[in-house]
Amino acid sequence: MGAGDRERWNEKWSSVGTGTDHQSQLVDLLEPWLPDSGRLLDVAGGGSPAAIEFARRGLDVTVADVSDVGLAAARVHAQAARLAVATVETDLEADPLPTGPWDIITVANYLQRDLFGAMVERLAPGGLLGVVIATETNLERRDKPGRPFLLGRNELPTLLPGLEILHHSEDWRDNGRHEAHLVARR
Ligand SMILES: C[S@@+](CC[C@H](N)C(=O)[O-])C[C@H]1O[C@@H](n2cnc3c(N)ncnc32)[C@H](O)[C@@H]1O
Repeated sequence: MGAGDRERWNEKWSSVGTGTDHQSQLVDLLEPWLPDSGRLLDVAGGGSPAAIEFARRGLDVTVADVSDVGLAAARVHAQAARLAVATVETDLEADPLPTGPWDIITVANYLQRDLFGAMVERLAPGGLLGVVIATETNLERRDKPGRPFLLGRNELPTLLPGLEILHHSEDWRDNGRHEAHLVARR
């Protein structure tokens, strides 16, 4: 990733304020399995409200993202809610994933296939992975995200060998997107 991409995402987080116009269903997806406490890493979480919701549930949340503007938004949202969220500014295409072990790792709307192995490695034994990413079927109704940012049909579980899949579904969601949702345990 070049500096241009960081700038692009900084601009999005500055202008839109939420980075994405479609909230992910990460929190609802993970809810049945969420522990009351533990360390959660939100990968490419930016200033998404999901991190704040996880912190509200008692989790010790760290957001890793390339956009300093997105991360600043995460801190502001956390402060406003009187919660604490740690942030790590990192280019995940160049830097290693923050050291774990993590009890929970989440990633929504960010596809970097070579990161899944590191996510599995960084999970504590028994740790949970939650993923929400659109699939290629999304192109039937929407031009964006483009194909490089979309999962193939039923591809997601194949990227996670060795994990116990607790939930996997691919469907049109309430936000109008065709998304793969997955929860897995190490
Ligand atoms: C579509 S947004 C998703 C944000 C959040 N997960 C959500 O669902 O609302 C993609 C995020 O990935 C981040 N991102 C893009 N490239 C990245 C990279 N190379 N390293 C770390 N974060 C990156 C962006 O800054 C942005 O916050």
